[in-house]
Amino acid sequence: MKTNLAKEEYYTPEQEAIVEEIIESLSQAQKTLSCKYFYDEKGSDLFEEIVELDEYYLTRTETSIMNNNIEEISRLIGKNCILIEPGSGSGQKIKILLDNLIFPSAYVPIDISESYVKDSANKLSKNYPDLKILPIIADYTGEFKLPGFNFEHENLVVYYPGSTIGNFSPEKAKEFLKKIAHMCGKDSYLLLGIDLKKDKEVLEKAYNDGSGITRKFNINILENLNNLIESNFELDQWAHKAFFNEDKSRIEMHLVSKEKQNVNINGYTVSFNKGETIHTENSHKYSIDKFCELISDDYRMNKVWTDKENKFAVLLFQSI
Ligand code: TRP
Repeated sequence: MKTNLAKEEYYTPEQEAIVEEIIESLSQAQKTLSCKYFYDEKGSDLFEEIVELDEYYLTRTETSIMNNNIEEISRLIGKNCILIEPGSGSGQKIKILLDNLIFPSAYVPIDISESYVKDSANKLSKNYPDLKILPIIADYTGEFKLPGFNFEHENLVVYYPGSTIGNFSPEKAKEFLKKIAHMCGKDSYLLLGIDLKKDKEVLEKAYNDGSGITRKFNINILENLNNLIESNFELDQWAHKAFFNEDKSRIEMHLVSKEKQNVNINGYTVSFNKGETIHTENSHKYSIDKFCELISDDYRMNKVWTDKENKFAVLLFQSI
């Protein structure tokens, strides 16, 4: 009988699936990593810093559009709605709606992070004692079901701020919003924020800030992998690169290998040439017309709000 195990060896199928997925995405001609690995605790903290940066105009502009038009938004949505938020995170962005909507019936936050969902549900239930909070812990890009709403309510409203829809490819964005439209049914509302196509320099600056926070955020994906699986990415061997791809109308974020190097991932070797990149994120930029056209099979546009400089847009749609 073996009594003295030198080292514990845990078998975790979930981790094996992660390893498999990562090796596969690093075996393509253009190596990629899924952007979901950005958001460990450190990544989420860095992202909170990004939204405060001078160069990162998106969040600030969206917030001001919301503040300037919240009365009209609330009037159009009407009373007793059920507010659904995919990727609700720390539950900050929803406050403006909860504070201004006319007697919202329920709030359904959906997030993959159990601790985020639980913390924010706890806080919100204290601040909004009359509101039903019906959290869903799930990866909202996958399959999930809405709970039954067997209480009095009017319209369902999906809130999807932050130009997060731009992090999908246009095809995936259309598919995702189609799924949402089917789930919520005809005439449900979709209130979402998109970053508008604009001067390349302004766009590129937003993802190449002077204080290097976005660089840290990008490189943190490798550190997160080193913690998550048995990989040995050397963090100082990678440079941050973000540029606007005019053709595809998107900011692309990459990590550039500073030297020719090998990385070991759970016993598997991935080789990188000097200058070779790992593609980590896309952020698509739309014109209002292009975006409405993209989802026109499933939604009609009710109203658009923008800022003075037309940097960002908040749009209200209704499913058809
Ligand atoms: N949706 C936002 C955007 O595209 C947030 C975001 C996702 C982001 N990944 C990012 C911001 C990477 C900076 C860097 O801008």
